[in-house]
Amino acid sequence: MPFFEWDTSYSVGVASIDTQHRKLVELINTLFEAMRDRKTAQIIGDLVRQLADYTVYHFSEEERLMEKASYSGLLLHKKEHATFIAKVREVQQKIDQGQANLIGFDLANFLRAWLKDHITGTDRNYGPVMRAAGLT
Ligand SMILES: [Fe+2]
Repeated sequence: MPFFEWDTSYSVGVASIDTQHRKLVELINTLFEAMRDRKTAQIIGDLVRQLADYTVYHFSEEERLMEKASYSGLLLHKKEHATFIAKVREVQQKIDQGQANLIGFDLANFLRAWLKDHITGTDRNYGPVMRAAGLT
């Protein structure tokens, strides 16, 4: 069983976003496995960067669709995204400063918990609005 297993309850009802969420789950699993297998700091650092970059891309796509659907919760949602990105960038900074040894399983646990809560809480709310606007 993977560290972070996709569950059908994670679907927000918008196919393109579900696909991106699955990719994020996959990236978190890859990071966890690299930590578990004691890969080098270089490899772990690259994976965190990959995850950060993909997250930035995904958030901007999500925000674009929310805007397109004139979703009323956009501003608050954007704030949640910004807080998360700041946290991940902080981790990345540590890695850039050669402190990758400080990055542990806490990070993988945090990422999994945050994404799961965000998808099943905040994200779920825009599903019906996007579908009503004809966005998939
Ligand atoms: Fe979101």
